[in-house]
Amino acid sequence: MSKRGKFIVFEGIDGSGKSTVSQMLYDRINRQIGKVHKTFEPTDSPIGSVIRNILNRRIKSDGKTIAALFLADRLDHIQNDQMGMLKFLNEGTHVISDRYYYSSYAYHVPVLPQDWVIETNKVCADLLRPDIVFYLDITVEESMERINKNRSFKDLFETKEKITTVRKNYLEAIEKEGKKDNVVIINGAQTIEQVFEDVWTATKEILGT
Ligand code: ADP
Ligand code: TYD
Repeated sequence: MSKRGKFIVFEGIDGSGKSTVSQMLYDRINRQIGKVHKTFEPTDSPIGSVIRNILNRRIKSDGKTIAALFLADRLDHIQNDQMGMLKFLNEGTHVISDRYYYSSYAYHVPVLPQDWVIETNKVCADLLRPDIVFYLDITVEESMERINKNRSFKDLFETKEKITTVRKNYLEAIEKEGKKDNVVIINGAQTIEQVFEDVWTATKEILGT
């Protein structure tokens, strides 16, 4: 029987560096340590594809329904026989996920109360708690700057308000739940190399190498 793998999560507002840094961590673990699986939410399962169709406005829905779909997507992401994270972890593979339940705590508030979102996600926490969560912290202004470099048109005012709320919700959720999930706040405004160094130092401790 191999030792259970470690579960590493990246969280943060848009443009905080989650996809960049999680890919760097995947490459480093893959090269220096061994078996690792990279994944993300919303997933590419059938439930995740319904979510994406709602997010890109092909299907009309509402905030509460979306929150429930994300919960369903997460439960499948954890338990699925073929691609579920528990399957990989139990085989001794480390798992890195771009987003997990802190995204729900951040994005579904104030449509739903944060404590309700935390409570309903206990079903996920009971199945699988992260060994470490990296919250890549950047300011709303930094986020806007990075997003606007990559995207052509945005309703700037609406976007700024939304990102401000999401960041505030993240920080409140970390205050409430952060100790239980070993949330580490990383200064995401540093260079990519520095951000990665901070992440790698903490990851090595978790992996015991
Ligand atoms: P996310 O997945 O959190 O939305 P990305 O990793 O896609 O963020 O990064 C968004 C953009 O910001 C990309 O163009 C990326 O190259 C850039 N970026 C990421 N981290 C940094 C950083 N520390 N400093 C400067 N630019 C960064
Ligand atoms: P993502 O694919 O990370 O978007 P992007 O590449 O544009 O950063 O995530 C899609 C969106 O889903 C993002 O706006 C955050 C949102 N989301 C929720 O609203 N609830 C959740 O539980 C999760 C995991 C994501």
